[in-house]
Amino acid sequence: MSTSTGAAASATSYEARFRVWRGDADGGGLHDFRVEVNDGEVVLDIIHRIQATQAPDLAVRWNCKAGKCGSCSAEVNGRPRLMCMTRMTDFARDETLTVTPLRAFPVLRDLVTDVSFNYEKAREVPGFVPPPGVAAGEYRMDQVDVDRSQEFRKCIECYLCQNTCHVVRDHEENKTAFAGPRFLMRVAELDMHPLDAAAQAGLDRRRTAQEEHGLGYCNITKCCTDVCPEGIKITDNALIPLKERAADRKYDPLVWLGSKIRRRGAASGPGA
Ligand code: SF4
Ligand code: SF4
Ligand code: FES
Repeated sequence: MSTSTGAAASATSYEARFRVWRGDADGGGLHDFRVEVNDGEVVLDIIHRIQATQAPDLAVRWNCKAGKCGSCSAEVNGRPRLMCMTRMTDFARDETLTVTPLRAFPVLRDLVTDVSFNYEKAREVPGFVPPPGVAAGEYRMDQVDVDRSQEFRKCIECYLCQNTCHVVRDHEENKTAFAGPRFLMRVAELDMHPLDAAAQAGLDRRRTAQEEHGLGYCNITKCCTDVCPEGIKITDNALIPLKERAADRKYDPLVWLGSKIRRRGAASGPGA
């Protein structure tokens, strides 16, 4: 079916073939559309045109159309992307574009998934612990430490990295034990923060990274880094340093001795 909108068409308009997944938690399938494409358009424009002209009840989540809200995440020809930042010129005109919802999260409807897994994982990471005796506004840190945090804080919470990571993408059963790259990056950011007083408060972020957030599941494939629309070097700058710091902790003789004593105390029982 041709869907040309006539007046809006420019000399370089063409008709593209789209296959869009439609359905809900009970199942669904790919639906074919032929739809007009104009100069400068992105995949989200085309999804909106399908919505406007052929499938008014097509569900799609978006907000800013500027790559900043992280809402329009989907998979285009199997690759996780922001639809609003994916130019139609990235594809050949005769190529059929297949748009499907994020695979790692449950479908609500059409291209909209339930990403609450990520909110749960966010809540499991204890926040910044303010340094005792330093008033807010008097915090001082080196520029190199500021820059490191700034990189991680560019995150727009699109969850493309979470969706891509093979640890959960094909293994639903790992979701309980694995926080995913975005939240391991948060742990790394806090562990490397020079003012974070977690250790003084009795919180060992390196231990929790291993034992509660599943750092050991990550085998540094860098797939998360490859899809990050903010270009954050998740693996090189967060996950690998966090692994090194967790390993340092494990092989630190004082930590080793402390854990031996704790284990012996626990084995002896309270009455020993
Ligand atoms: S580097 Fe680690 S967190 Fe990132 S995709 Fe690979 S296994 Fe997952
Ligand atoms: S780290 Fe990158 S890919 Fe992951 S949620 Fe943040 S912006 Fe998205
Ligand atoms: S609509 Fe906001 S990132 Fe795409």
